[in-house]
Amino acid sequence: MMMSCQAWPEPVVRVQALAESGLSSIPSRYIKPRSQRPTTTNTNTNTTSVAYPQVSQTEDDHSDVNINIPVIDLQSLSSGEDIALQEETLQRVAEACREWGFFQVVNHGVSHELMRNARELWREFFDQPYELKEEYANSPNTYEGYGSRLGVSKGAILDWSDYFFLHYMPPSLRNQDKWPTLPLSLRKVISEYGEEVVKLGGRMLELMSRNLGLKEDYLMNAFGGENEIGGCLRVNFYPKCPQPDLTLGLSAHSDPGGMTILLPDDFVSGLQVRKGNHWITVKPLPNAFIINVGDQIQVMSNAIYKSVEHRVIVNSNKDRVSLAFFYNPKSDLLIEPAKELVTKERPALYQPMTYDEYRLYIRMNGPCGKAQVESLTSPIR
Ligand code: OGA
Ligand code: NI
Repeated sequence: MMMSCQAWPEPVVRVQALAESGLSSIPSRYIKPRSQRPTTTNTNTNTTSVAYPQVSQTEDDHSDVNINIPVIDLQSLSSGEDIALQEETLQRVAEACREWGFFQVVNHGVSHELMRNARELWREFFDQPYELKEEYANSPNTYEGYGSRLGVSKGAILDWSDYFFLHYMPPSLRNQDKWPTLPLSLRKVISEYGEEVVKLGGRMLELMSRNLGLKEDYLMNAFGGENEIGGCLRVNFYPKCPQPDLTLGLSAHSDPGGMTILLPDDFVSGLQVRKGNHWITVKPLPNAFIINVGDQIQVMSNAIYKSVEHRVIVNSNKDRVSLAFFYNPKSDLLIEPAKELVTKERPALYQPMTYDEYRLYIRMNGPCGKAQVESLTSPIR
């Protein structure tokens, strides 16, 4: 059922241009239903939440709860000396994947200068005139290029953000002609950044495999191997918004792919992660990456690891830029729970499906919480 779509259902409006036009109220197509707005205290489902200390909400802090996602220092894993410390680091990664689906890593091996540079150059890209950016205008067919919406349903309520999307892996899909020529060093920096982040992703797959009790190359093989994995970069640009309480920069969703390695803005927070009935605002540490489990790892781990819902809030003072690198399985492989993790007591929770088939759903419908991965649950036990 490969469908694709050549054109957006409505004329594309750049959110950045709307924001720059100085309007004081946002157009109705960006106004979310009340239950989805950022200031609602609880999420709108019935899941009972784990008990966390409740703090009162303030105007600047939309989080319900004053805790951060786990922060994990990966240093011990590269120095290779202190075995006890390595074991502890592994355990912390395992716990974060099980309990949160999200964590920050520091001492991850990627050059801090490269991270800063990449974010700065992408900011410069978005600061350029629209005529120049429009040369890269994307279509829903591959999403590659400059875009302003996810999903093609006509009349959908849209998110308050623009983005640039590009393919990095496998090398056969990497087409630099589709990457911005300006600022001048951007292409070179994307290449270097992609290479480093792909290495980090490979290391994380190894850690997760070991933690799941699988061979350390299990997940990498299930993803198709180093040269075949998929890797895409989406650079998100969240413009200032005159009515941040009515909209979202990115609606609640789980990431459809394998794992996401996010470089957040260094000054402006906005990412919120769901924990039970609460939305936790992530406080990024300097030079850290935020890593999260995607739907495909949830499936391969037979739901031992969770791909957790998250969303982005915007604010009226500052634009925000983030670089989301999606580390994905080869797109035509069947993805299914690891045999080793399927037992009588815990049967396979998901039916096999290729990532190509899977991502069509989000490409057509846009972000929609965890509805998709849940629809994969096998009807037969
Ligand atoms: C994403 C995403 C979070 C952010 O791009 O899928 O969740 O902080 N981004 O921009
Ligand atoms: Ni996401």
